[in-house]
Amino acid sequence: MSKKVILSGVQSTGNLTLGNYLGAIKNWKKMQEDYECHYMIANLHTLTIRNDPEKLRSNTLNLLALYIAAGIDPEKSNIFIQSQVASHAELAWVLNCFTYMGELSRMTQFKDKSTKHADNINSGLFTYPVLMAADILLYQADLVPVGEDQKQHLEITRDIAERFNGIYGKTFKIPEAYIGENAARVMGLQDPTSKMSKSSVIPNDSIFLNDEPDEIMKKFKKSVTDSENIVRFDVKEKPGISNLISIYSAITRKK
Ligand code: TRP
Repeated sequence: MSKKVILSGVQSTGNLTLGNYLGAIKNWKKMQEDYECHYMIANLHTLTIRNDPEKLRSNTLNLLALYIAAGIDPEKSNIFIQSQVASHAELAWVLNCFTYMGELSRMTQFKDKSTKHADNINSGLFTYPVLMAADILLYQADLVPVGEDQKQHLEITRDIAERFNGIYGKTFKIPEAYIGENAARVMGLQDPTSKMSKSSVIPNDSIFLNDEPDEIMKKFKKSVTDSENIVRFDVKEKPGISNLISIYSAITRKK
């Protein structure tokens, strides 16, 4: 039996965080043993915000290096840069014609980003999910490992594929989201109620994969906990300490 196909990717904006690693890339390594894996560097997706060309180029290569450092083996998996495979943008155009304005305007990421970048609400931001659908459908992927925040993008991908298949006959495989069993949702160290983000403006909130070890320790030591003198897992009452416990558990694999 042929192996199931996996496709996933990360945007090449700046530095990756510990959240990107524990929530996604760490699991990619394991999957390459059992699946046919395609791991992409989503550099076209980054164009929805303004970039410095030199920086974008170096971020793209930096991400490639990080994939390899995280154990993704180019002999086992297909690693590629999205912009170098022209079919992604080509299929995105076709799929645009099968996607409704209404469904795109309901995407939470679009709503969030257009509030954040109110001075640059471009059409790319709006059709971002269609390019992502093209990424996935092009490879006839069975499974797409994504974090919780990308689940909605996978749902719209399925809707677009089903719509196209309904009109023209079975063309695209309908992909499923693959939410890894221990894909930890890592929160900020200073604001443990929001996801650890590469673009956090709060100092010491995010651990970056190329932070120096002593810097990482410093950030952990400064992390926000609470005033109760006890270590216990309770996301609601003790989000800070619970986040540290999840990170510890994800790294040491202790439950
Ligand atoms: N939108 C994803 C993110 O921000 C990145 C991405 C682009 C992706 N294309 C994809 C993820 C295809 C999975 C499959 O994290």
